[in-house]
Amino acid sequence: MKLWQGSFHGELDPKTNDFNSSISFDSRMFREDIEGSIAHVTMLGECGVIDPEEAGTIRQELCRIREDIEKGRMQIDPNAEDIHTVIEEELTRRLGDAGKRLHTARSRNDQVAVDVRLYLRKECDSLTAQLRELIEVLCDKAEEGSEMVMPGYTHLQRAQPITFGHHMLAYAEMFLRDIGRLEDAKKRMNVMPLGSGALAGTTYPIDRFRTAELLHFDAPCRNSLDGVADRDFCAEITGAISLAMVHLSRFSEELVLWCSWEFRFVRLDDAFSTGSSIMPQKKNPDIAELVRGKSGRVFGDLMGLLTMMKGLPLAYNKDMQEDKEAVFDAVDTLRMCLTAFIPMVKTMTLLPDNMRKAAAGGFINATDVADYLVEQKGLPFRDAYRMTGDLVAKCMESGETLESLPLSEYRKVCPLFDEKVYDAISLAACVNGRTVYGGPAPENVRAMAKAVREEITHE
Ligand code: ARG
Repeated sequence: MKLWQGSFHGELDPKTNDFNSSISFDSRMFREDIEGSIAHVTMLGECGVIDPEEAGTIRQELCRIREDIEKGRMQIDPNAEDIHTVIEEELTRRLGDAGKRLHTARSRNDQVAVDVRLYLRKECDSLTAQLRELIEVLCDKAEEGSEMVMPGYTHLQRAQPITFGHHMLAYAEMFLRDIGRLEDAKKRMNVMPLGSGALAGTTYPIDRFRTAELLHFDAPCRNSLDGVADRDFCAEITGAISLAMVHLSRFSEELVLWCSWEFRFVRLDDAFSTGSSIMPQKKNPDIAELVRGKSGRVFGDLMGLLTMMKGLPLAYNKDMQEDKEAVFDAVDTLRMCLTAFIPMVKTMTLLPDNMRKAAAGGFINATDVADYLVEQKGLPFRDAYRMTGDLVAKCMESGETLESLPLSEYRKVCPLFDEKVYDAISLAACVNGRTVYGGPAPENVRAMAKAVREEITHE
């Protein structure tokens, strides 16, 4: 049976029925559908739109249906049109006329809008909880690696020395902003569409503020057309998830690099890497690669949502049924990625000797040579920069590093150089001196890890 068979005589073509149906992807919202119906019927009873006693009976039966689905006692018909139909029909089968009163002053258009909001609201909370867990792991790693000197890169060329802990905390900042974006998205989606009806509200004397209160929404939506017509909240959460995926993907790329033989900065635990069926020496970072790869499908979800909405006249159009697969896929993908990613980072072994070796070999203290000439010898930075460039070229020619180049060679470029240059450019000095707020010095890293931890526990 269809809920809309009012003026219809024939059945929908069976193959078209599959095409039209959303049950395969909206049945996951059965709890939210029931929750919305319970609030709606409670309000109808309180307002005297239906008999309060009957409202109580409906409420009770809806709870039973929920339990029956949860316990597997009630099967959801895979040929049904959607979850709203399944639940209303079951209620009517069980209660007769009382069940038929549930849909008073409601349409599936405001019903689906409320269900999706209730569903995504919960998902926002569970994703932010996972992101908090990841940030905590990053703080642990930052503390562990607060003294580990490694090269910082630009253009993937060794640039200046940083600490591993500082690198971890850069990601912590990004994931903190991702939490902020999800929280913002939740705030804007937390507005209640029930009572918008199909598009033009209703003539029944209902109390939309009461329904909003019962469902813990901040308020009912102010415009019935807007309440059923927009899916910006789906695009917004998918946008926030997309950015989180960008961050996870970049981090994954770095992990792939870092566990290659060329870097060897970290070793992934066996539980999070795989072997090759033909090359016995291989240990592949599949999990990191999959996370990097899965970012693409989430960006696809976002594009799909935006494109689906852009040409629709107000209010509801069936195109909008396509919102769910996209937004659910985005939510599921981020959840799965985080579930694998967090323990992978937690269990990875840091290899500080290799980090230090890479830091020692790449002229990453060249800026510090120039800074030495500025600070200790009073040269203007541009002159100091040029002279240091000459020194690096000299080192490259002779296979020296800036630490091993004899003072006599330094003096050929600038007679002001003295022994103190070697202290100024030692890796420890270069990193320990970068205590500027936001810098990579070990003491900064420890203080920042503590501050970040406080931020996530106080939220
Ligand atoms: N399955 C539909 C959806 O997800 C529910 C709303 C149906 N409304 C309608 N007027 N056909 O969008």
